[in-house]
Amino acid sequence: MTIEDILLGEETLFRDISAFNPDYIPDRLLHRDSQMESLAMCLRPAFRGGKPKNAVVLGAPATGKTTALRKIFQIAEGTSDKLYCVYVNCQISTTRFNIFSDIYEHLMGHRPPETGIPFSRIYGEIMKKLIQEEKALIVALDDVNHLFYSKNANQVFYDILRAHEVFKGARTGLFAIISDIEFRFMLDKNVSSIFIPKEVVFNPYRQEEMKDILEERVKTGFYSEVMSEDVLEYIAELAYSTGDMRLGIDLLSTSGDLAERDASKTIKMSHVDGAVKNTSVGSLKSTLEALSPQEAELLDFIVNYEEEETTAGSLYQSFKDRKKVSYASFDRALKKLELLRIIDTHFTGKGVKGNSRLIILRFTPEEIIKYL
Ligand SMILES: Nc1ncnc2c1ncn2[C@@H]1O[C@H](COP(=O)(O)OP(=O)(O)OP(=O)(O)O)[C@@H](O)[C@H]1O
Ligand SMILES: [Mg+2]
Repeated sequence: MTIEDILLGEETLFRDISAFNPDYIPDRLLHRDSQMESLAMCLRPAFRGGKPKNAVVLGAPATGKTTALRKIFQIAEGTSDKLYCVYVNCQISTTRFNIFSDIYEHLMGHRPPETGIPFSRIYGEIMKKLIQEEKALIVALDDVNHLFYSKNANQVFYDILRAHEVFKGARTGLFAIISDIEFRFMLDKNVSSIFIPKEVVFNPYRQEEMKDILEERVKTGFYSEVMSEDVLEYIAELAYSTGDMRLGIDLLSTSGDLAERDASKTIKMSHVDGAVKNTSVGSLKSTLEALSPQEAELLDFIVNYEEEETTAGSLYQSFKDRKKVSYASFDRALKKLELLRIIDTHFTGKGVKGNSRLIILRFTPEEIIKYL
């Protein structure tokens, strides 16, 4: 096959390849009816001149929180013009200014200038528009734990929830989304006095549920008969064994790619096995290879750390004995490892202001050492 053939070859197994994109919103969100209903109940008052209810959306990674939020927002804005629904990714927008720029953009159709305009003006224009149009505002702060790192949570929650105190008639609400139950505690500690939310829990999927969801995606993404029941079952098992819906979807599309490369009209078990190598092991290897020397050194240190519990603070104390490094650059390297999903950090509620973080490896030390 030439490169041109690969790029432009007409033969394809994919009916709609976008169905495998990470931001794809499926037509039907299976097995999340009760969560969607709870979220709809929170928005309901806004359609009748009331204030939307606040919610905290909890659930492990890849349980459909972001997708459900985007879906309910799509439906809500499509149903009535009484409510603005703004989705904010707090991993990207971490400051008060950026978050309100996102809201501003949704309402005005363009972003405010980055410089030369004070926050209060952006804020004021948003609130005035809401009052003028008699519309309510709901803001979803996805992965809100990132606002705790940047210590902006309290201020942003306050800005949104107490808008009516300065702008009479402004009706605003907030959904906070967290993928780690431990952050529930951070919410209480940071913003409990102004934020009394309804809890919407996204429990992990059972194996049959994962299979249903993957099957639905197969129907949208591939032409019929490309994937047999057995192969689908195999992928569902793999996804379930890692508890990761994303892996399942990734395996669907990667095994499809491999089948195409073999000019096969169907996806075979061997393609799935190839995809497994490509995704989990393959990606850990390439992720580790791309680390900077400092990040690799820190990871190596974590892997060999002997203490029973690894907290960020104690780790830094020992790490700086070995290598002269400021806390800021240590913390940056740590965040990078977390962003790359090599480690997880959990707030423990202990330490200064309860901010002590426990560090957990997402892979076994052996796997990491092999590629580091
Ligand atoms: N009920 C569902 N129906 C269809 N697709 C789903 C469903 N639940 C999850 N998915 C798919 O699984 C993947 C992960 O979902 P999503 O990003 O919504 O999870 P999340 O809970 O926001 O995860 P994280 O906490 O890591 O942000 C997406 O590709 C999404 O399309
Ligand atoms: Mg998400």
